[in-house]
Amino acid sequence: MQIRDMFNNIHKRYDTLNHLMSAGRDIAWRRTCCKKLPKKENAIVLDLCGGTGDFSIAYKKVANPKLSIVGDFADKMLQVASQKDLSLIPIQMDATNIPLNDNSVDIILNGFGMRNISNLDLAFSEAFRVLKAGGYFATLEFFKSEKIIPKLFYQKIAPLIIPFAGMILSKRNAYRYLVFSIMNFISPQEYAAKARAAGFALRSINALDGGLAYIVLVEKNEILGEQS
Ligand SMILES: C[S@@+](CC[C@H](N)C(=O)[O-])C[C@H]1O[C@@H](n2cnc3c(N)ncnc32)[C@H](O)[C@@H]1O
Repeated sequence: MQIRDMFNNIHKRYDTLNHLMSAGRDIAWRRTCCKKLPKKENAIVLDLCGGTGDFSIAYKKVANPKLSIVGDFADKMLQVASQKDLSLIPIQMDATNIPLNDNSVDIILNGFGMRNISNLDLAFSEAFRVLKAGGYFATLEFFKSEKIIPKLFYQKIAPLIIPFAGMILSKRNAYRYLVFSIMNFISPQEYAAKARAAGFALRSINALDGGLAYIVLVEKNEILGEQS
């Protein structure tokens, strides 16, 4: 099944299952990530792979953006976002072909989305293109990790409980895919290297809850092309 169809199929239960399977930690992780971002006046924010809009809503609680765009290729996930908060601007888009102008966005958020994209390099180059100089790209994601807690959790515990919970409450295959995609994703360091290859400067990598999730913060430098 295509990834877009898979998310369209689970849109009604996505939020509930997200909170349930992470024991509510996803809410805290998004908030922590938003607090790390600079508070820019009148910021234009793009929540890329934004789904049901929770990352945009979390950002609105810590800053006061001028525009919050939720970009996702699954139209039904976007419908949920619009129902939750009328001020969000849903735009159906593919992260590898963003329908926004060059240098038009101050902040890009990406929560649990990049893992689903097969051409990560293209997604990074699109994110770099639409960001203004000095703009930040914040990724909150489940990465491959060598730390004990995530290794144990994702290799031993998650394959047993996540598809089972998904079967009871939603679509089992989607949650089998979730476990598979985490175990086969790259490490935060490899991810940061890809961001740097696209022109970004690495600002920070933070492990959350012992490495169950990570925040990777990168910046498009003021002086374009300057690496740090
Ligand atoms: C796990 S959900 C995350 C939703 C939301 N960001 C959150 O924090 O809960 C992943 C989302 O990424 C979207 N997605 C996956 N690949 C995409 C792509 N290439 N372009 C746009 N959206 C994509 C899916 O439709 C889905 O809504």
